[in-house]
Amino acid sequence: MSEAARIALGMMRIENLSDGEIRDLYAGAREAGVTHFDHADIYGGGEHGCERRFNEALQLSPAEREQVVLQTKCGIRSGGRGFDFSAQYIVRRAEESLEALGTEYLDVLMLHRPDTLVEPEEVASAFSQLEAAGKVRSFGVSNHTTPQIELLKTAVTQPIAVNQVQFGLGHAALVAQGIAANMEGLKQSAVRDGGLLEYARINGITLEAWSPFQRGFFSGSIFEQGGLRELQAVLARIATERGTTPTAIATAWITRHPARMRVVLGTTRVSRVGEAVAGAQLVLSREEWYELFVAAGYEVP
Ligand SMILES: NC(=O)c1ccc[n+]([C@@H]2O[C@H](COP(=O)([O-])OP(=O)(O)OC[C@H]3O[C@@H](n4cnc5c(N)ncnc54)[C@H](OP(=O)(O)O)[C@@H]3O)[C@@H](O)[C@H]2O)c1
Repeated sequence: MSEAARIALGMMRIENLSDGEIRDLYAGAREAGVTHFDHADIYGGGEHGCERRFNEALQLSPAEREQVVLQTKCGIRSGGRGFDFSAQYIVRRAEESLEALGTEYLDVLMLHRPDTLVEPEEVASAFSQLEAAGKVRSFGVSNHTTPQIELLKTAVTQPIAVNQVQFGLGHAALVAQGIAANMEGLKQSAVRDGGLLEYARINGITLEAWSPFQRGFFSGSIFEQGGLRELQAVLARIATERGTTPTAIATAWITRHPARMRVVLGTTRVSRVGEAVAGAQLVLSREEWYELFVAAGYEVP
């Protein structure tokens, strides 16, 4: 995977951008070497809102379409009405995404959040129908634990290629739990994802980090949020030492991990895409990596 391929551009925040702004963002990302674009059926106020805006603004030529990876997600019912991994729902939503994106195939279709009412045979049926029709080329999940992936694999025959999870210096549970494994009385040491980090590495599943610069669930960026002064100071100091920006360092912190994660950016500014791509080319030392982790408020026992 090239360094630019370690960066994907998330399309969750484009609904209110003008066509020109979307075109500039896309062109800037492509120029920086980004080929991955991340969608979901529920992004944007309306159904498939951001997918539709992407297509209206860009009208990708067949040649350009072949050069990029378009991935989307389904399975969350909009309006807080739970989840639906039934075969009928998955197929219908994927077909709607194809229409909204104006494309004949999706490179990756992900199940967005676990549905506890899942019947793995239903997912298997949906994936096989979509694959056989040439509508989806590969499959993944998002926010899934190790056992939830194993459950899907009891019926699904296609590889689960990707798991997109919340990860970054502002919410690092994915790595923090393993670092403090076994420590009595430490909240951080509770393993809540079934050892997902190691499971993904062992099984060749690409982990994608969503909201890489946010703290918590959209509580604001780590660069401007109050209460993160120590992290901001360490990011600024390492950025100065390395002759780069805090955004690049926060990206490098994710890409430094040998799990070789992909960073799903949410910025709407081309300049920040460029900073992240530069960050993916930087290799932090172990000292820098752990110093940032501690500055973000985590324990190194
Ligand atoms: N699978 C899932 O469950 C899930 C959940 C959420 C998101 N996602 C995916 O992940 C993508 C990224 O999520 P996200 O948008 O939350 O990611 P993010 O990159 O952590 O946050 C982006 C937001 O932070 C702002 N920001 C970035 N750098 C900044 C800085 N230096 N100073 C001030 N503000 C800064 C951006 O503003 P500017 O636009 O001004 O730069 C934007 O509003 C989404 O587009 C979506 O594709 C997936």
